[in-house]
Amino acid sequence: MAVDASMGRMPNDDDSPTGLASASADSFDLPGVNDYDSFAEVYSAENEVNLHNAYYERPATLALAGDVAGRRILDAGCGSGPLSAALRDRGAIVTGFDKSAGMLELARKRLGEDADLQVADLGRPLPYPDGAFDDVIASLVLHYFEDWTEPLSELRRVLKPGGRLIASVNHPIVGHPVVRPGADYWATYEWAEQITTASGQSYTLANWHRPLPAMIEAFISAGFRITAVSEPPPAPDTPRELLPDFLQDKPPGAAFLCFMFFVLQAD
Ligand SMILES: C[S@@+](CC[C@H](N)C(=O)[O-])C[C@H]1O[C@@H](n2cnc3c(N)ncnc32)[C@H](O)[C@@H]1O
Repeated sequence: MAVDASMGRMPNDDDSPTGLASASADSFDLPGVNDYDSFAEVYSAENEVNLHNAYYERPATLALAGDVAGRRILDAGCGSGPLSAALRDRGAIVTGFDKSAGMLELARKRLGEDADLQVADLGRPLPYPDGAFDDVIASLVLHYFEDWTEPLSELRRVLKPGGRLIASVNHPIVGHPVVRPGADYWATYEWAEQITTASGQSYTLANWHRPLPAMIEAFISAGFRITAVSEPPPAPDTPRELLPDFLQDKPPGAAFLCFMFFVLQAD
């Protein structure tokens, strides 16, 4: 998978190679951007086998979740359901939702007709009662929001007291600050990446960068206590050829920065 982060935009950055002219919430509200319905199959196939999801994000999230047998877990932004399937294999009772009907259709194929799945938007009230879940897992979905207040409030509401939110997001140094010297780490702004899969298909994702203190502040304001923050290495069984060049001559277990993981407790 190749990622071209040159499409990122900073506030007051007017010479965009994409012609996307502002950093407002709607800057990337263009046909095809973040349109998971239109690239559901290709995204899902890639997610199944690639470094970032299959050998990094998913194993790290499952490790943070630990023993989930018998726990009621909501998979928020479940996509085509790979994490739901892994949690269910470990004995969890899993419910999933996603904004994309196309992704959810793939999840249903994977998990079966009787799986508890529905189309829902994390930016709106969720169709679950208060305190319905022991854990919520929000893998790689929060960074699609400029403002985390409503999503976190809803995720907090559906958790029982003492329940956990396990969230992964783009690492705050990934994207602009690394590839664009001079980018303002402290701003909250939207940037886009064009992803080209090994099979040559491309799609564009736009994400909101925010600095780490803004993430922490949002979690605390929503009523969560941070119990773990993780920047893990890829899984031990990662095929060596999938690792980036700079890790090729490093010992097994060497880490790279890509996503940041949080375990939060609903107090
Ligand atoms: C990067 S994918 C991750 C999918 C899945 N969590 C995984 O790790 O395999 C992000 C998912 O979030 C979903 N998504 C984006 N915005 C959403 C929203 N507002 N509400 C619910 N789901 C959303 C997308 O449709 C997509 O399936």
